[in-house]
Formats: sequence, structure tokens, C-alpha cells
Amino acid sequence: MAILVCGGAGYIGSHNVRALLARGEETIIIDNFLTGHRGSVPAGARLYEGDIRDAAILDQVFGENDIDAVLHFAASSLVGESMEKPLKYFNNNVHGMQMLLEAMLRHDVDKLVFSSSAAVYGEPERVPIEESDPTRPCNPYGESKLIMETIMRWVGKAHHIRSVSLRYFNVAGAWPGGEIGEDHRPESHLIPLILQVPLGLREQITVFGQDYPTPDGTCIRDYLDVTDLADAHLRAVDYLRRGGASEICNLGNGRGFSVMEMIEAARRVTGQEIKIAVGPRRPGDPARLVASAARAAKVLDWRPETGLEDMIASAWEWHKNHPHGYAR
Ligand code: UFG
Repeated sequence: MAILVCGGAGYIGSHNVRALLARGEETIIIDNFLTGHRGSVPAGARLYEGDIRDAAILDQVFGENDIDAVLHFAASSLVGESMEKPLKYFNNNVHGMQMLLEAMLRHDVDKLVFSSSAAVYGEPERVPIEESDPTRPCNPYGESKLIMETIMRWVGKAHHIRSVSLRYFNVAGAWPGGEIGEDHRPESHLIPLILQVPLGLREQITVFGQDYPTPDGTCIRDYLDVTDLADAHLRAVDYLRRGGASEICNLGNGRGFSVMEMIEAARRVTGQEIKIAVGPRRPGDPARLVASAARAAKVLDWRPETGLEDMIASAWEWHKNHPHGYAR
């Protein structure tokens, strides 16, 4: 029985593919390579190039393989872009989910692990955030992920598909060995941007706002290592294989670090001075996002194991080996 990874050539998908192969799972990837990278696809996985909004390719993938469960990472994920092109997000993310679920029903596949986001919460009323807290997304990206969860809930009630939605906080780090890692175009994530300074690709890192109501005035986020994240997905597959009912779990460390603390940690890891500039706030950034990861611990028996400096060290190894990402 195989596992289908939708979006398996992206940052998070490719790390999950490595984790599946490492434990001997037969692994199938579908990716349209709009944001994924061919260089991230390992020899051990079977690759289909195509879009999940295309029913014909999904029928081919499900028809040619004995698929037991689906991990779904195929989505557009840039908050800023979603504000400018909301319809792109509703088409790719929401319509993509509908097409995937229809194909799963046609081919009688009943287990789905979904890449959701802390963006479903919007500006939180309190931290740590629990799954039952209000969901009030403040951008089309977060809204699309919430609608995808809603669709899964109703489809799960009407049909036999069970799902685990994993609401990620800030994912970072890279698979040990420096072969695969983070490469977004354009890059908007804090850790890769910080590391571009010691790589000589950028003069300084701009801190977006130093007047937030936090101890050092910079935004606090909950950073989670991508290998710990992949481990949670394997556990979610196991949970569904044991017959577990549909669930929603936050994935985070439960500990927040400020932008300044992240820069300090990167200075320690790289041994280099990293120049900063303070700029204005980035619109739409909540001051603090920290997960309660208690539900994932209870339901999936999952606990993140990677500390902040190890997370930055693995990212540093990847970026040093590939200063221009997957581009040659
Ligand atoms: N930041 C800077 N300077 C930069 C880049 C980022 O100060 O050059 C700050 C941001 O303002 C924020 C923190 O670093 O406070 C982290 O920013 P990221 O862009 O790395 O991550 P976000 O918290 O904005 O986004 C993450 C995920 C999204 C998800 C969102 C949920 O990457 O996919 O959390 O709110 F939607």
C-alpha cells in the first residue's frame, strides 16, 4: 500500500517524502512544479507531474497505484500574495481540495493528512493558542485553509473519509545532510532571509517593527523543525490506520522566540555578525503566535525534539551548500 504526497516537491512536502522513504513506505508524488523543485525529488519516490485540479491525472495516479493514504501539501502559501490575488488562493487551494476529495471518493481512499496553518486563527485573543480557539483568518491564504478544513469536515460526515488537519506554526530547518531545504521564490521567511546575510547575499536583515507589545518589541513566533513536523505526519498516518476519527491538531513547540532572539541565535550558529536594520511593521503580522501542542501530544503521541539552534544549524548547512537554492 502506497502513500500519495500531493505537493511532494515543495519545502514541507519534500521533507515528508524523505521521512516516508526512511521508514520504508512506498511513496508516490504528484506535483505541478509551479513552486516545487525537481531537485528535491529523490530516486526512491514515484513521480507524476501534474496538477491536482486535473481529474484525469488524479484518476491515473489512483488507478495505477494501490494508495492507502494521502498527505496533502499542494497549495499556494504566500500571505502577501493572497491579499493581492485572492482568487488564485481559492482556486488552487479550495478547488484543489475539492478535486482531491472527489478523486479519493471515486477510488475509495479514506485517509487524508492535511497541511493546515496557524493562519486560520488570525490575530489570537490569547497564547498559547488551542484548537478550539476562534478561527478568524485575516488573509485569503488563512481563509482558504479554513475552508479546506470545513470541506473535509462535511465530506467526512457524509462519506467515509477520515482526516487529520495539522495547523503548522512557523516551520524551519532542513533534512540533515544539507541536500534539501527551504527555497521559496520570492523568499519571505525569516530564517532563510537572516542566513542570506552571512552568505553575503544580502547586506542586512530588516526587522519588521520594534514597537510590538513584547519584551524586546519584536514579533514572537513558534518555530518548529521540519523533521519534527514530518514525524507528526507519519504519526497522523498511523493514527488513521489504527482507525482514528477525524482530528485537528496544532503543530508547534509551544515556545515563542522574538525576531531579535532569532537573529541572536543565527549569530551564535554561524559565528558571524549579522547586520540588522529596523523597518516598519509588516501589515497583518500578529504580535505573538504560539501554539499549544497539547492536543498533538495526546492524540498523536508527538513531541518536537529539535532545539532552536539545531534547527537554524540544519538550515545553515542547506543554505551554505546551496546559496541559490535548487537553481544551478
Ligand atoms: N520578519 C522580519 N523580517 C523579515 C522577514 C520576517 O522581521 O525580513 C518577521 C515577521 O514580521 C514575523 C517573523 O519574522 O514577525 C516571521 O515571519 P515569517 O514570514 O518567517 O513567518 P510568518 O509568521 O509571517 O508566517 C508563518 C508561515 C505562513 C503562515 C503564518 C501564519 O510562514 O505560511 O505563519 O500566520 F501563514
